[in-house]
Amino acid sequence: MENYSKKHFCYLPFEGFTVDPRGKAIPCPAWTDNPDMMFADLRTGNETINDIFHGKKMSSMRKMMSRDQKVEACSVCYRKESKGLLSQRIKVARRKRVQKQLQTLFEDVDNKFLKVEHKPKIKSLELNFSNQCNLACAMCNHTHSSGWLKQEQTMPTHIRKLRDAYPGFLAGVPFEQYILKRNFVDSIIDNIEGLEQIMIKGGEPLYDKNCLYLLEALTKVKPDIKIIIVSNITHVPQRTLDIFAKLQNLNINASIDGVGKTYEWVRGFDFAKINENYQMLSQLPNIKRLDVNMCTSIYNIHNVMDTINHFLKYFKLNYKKSDGTLDKKYSFAFGFAGEPWSDQGILLDEDKQDILKTFKRDITKLVDQHIFNEQQLQDAMRLQFAPSHMMLGNKELDKWRKMFYDYVVWMNTVRGFDLRSISKPVDNLMRMYD
Ligand SMILES: C[S@@+](CC[C@H](N)C(=O)[O-])C[C@H]1O[C@@H](n2cnc3c(N)ncnc32)[C@H](O)[C@@H]1O
Ligand code: SF4
Repeated sequence: MENYSKKHFCYLPFEGFTVDPRGKAIPCPAWTDNPDMMFADLRTGNETINDIFHGKKMSSMRKMMSRDQKVEACSVCYRKESKGLLSQRIKVARRKRVQKQLQTLFEDVDNKFLKVEHKPKIKSLELNFSNQCNLACAMCNHTHSSGWLKQEQTMPTHIRKLRDAYPGFLAGVPFEQYILKRNFVDSIIDNIEGLEQIMIKGGEPLYDKNCLYLLEALTKVKPDIKIIIVSNITHVPQRTLDIFAKLQNLNINASIDGVGKTYEWVRGFDFAKINENYQMLSQLPNIKRLDVNMCTSIYNIHNVMDTINHFLKYFKLNYKKSDGTLDKKYSFAFGFAGEPWSDQGILLDEDKQDILKTFKRDITKLVDQHIFNEQQLQDAMRLQFAPSHMMLGNKELDKWRKMFYDYVVWMNTVRGFDLRSISKPVDNLMRMYD
């Protein structure tokens, strides 16, 4: 276990604010579902951003944190840290330190008196404007995507039961339509001054009228604010491009979970069209960053290097600055699917070893050529096989592998072609259960 000087303090509740895909106001995306720690329900309530951030509930939680006391709703971070995994708490603390030595993390946090920089002030927002989405990606669910409602009508009952009983994610929560209210969006615009960054997810943000309303308002009140949009980039009409053209610090995380047939199985959308949209966005000069964001899962882990190689021509366009650091417009980021039936960690050990060997060999070459950095190599090696079943305990492995088998058989009927024919590791695992 890593030895950090603060066990429970986290910077996020002092400067961050999240509206999750169910319209719940929480301090950070890793926050667990503890009713005492739910700060507001924006589906029903009419609170503004200030009412919540400076309200009693959030203030008393910050008080506990500043004394380094345990906060129950942060259990996901504590659990990850106890397993030696990178928690949201530590990721945020690391971003604050240039030198990332563990002992220096949190050194500016005083136990008794918070220094000025840790007085609460919203600097970064993470907004999920709605759960409306045009896709139903294999690793996603109806909490994030209304597209899943239609798709799951044919889902076999036994898969649905297992999925709904899984405690670690939001999949089992019944679908409720959520659209962020205009008064809340207006309260963000009214309090824009100190805000440094807004990250927008969903649902699909580029399908969302409220998202475009906020972006358009930002073009007038703060066009240089850092905006990060996590999008499937399936729908980028001219009106959206006109708004983009007026924003000065626009960063797009394009969620592209593979190339060719693998992408199409995972996302159920035409890869050629996505490729075209990515290329079109790459030609917009005012987009600061255009990352390929790959949510790795058991469905696409075989396709990581093909995906990196496909987009390599963009990554090569980053250039080296005079101080030796890279000026990055294009990059590749790994995420990983959190549910055990979608988790690459349930693959056969031989296949995992082969995949890791390839990552090590091929990504190291990219690091040597300064196209990728050490962190990306580490993410590929460590995060890819830090599976949720390790957090739950190995005994359930067989259960989740069986569920994975049935899930793939069902999704093959939805997509109209067989994942086994395009993924050797998937085929190897499924053979065990034929
Ligand atoms: C829920 S999506 C919403 C934004 C947008 N629709 C998109 O796909 O980018 C936000 C991010 O979550 C990732 N994601 C989807 N399902 C996930 C899962 N089961 N576990 C972890 N991340 C997931 C997506 O790949 C995407 O990068
Ligand atoms: S596009 Fe995004 S929100 Fe929609 S189903 Fe896919 S991952 Fe989920």
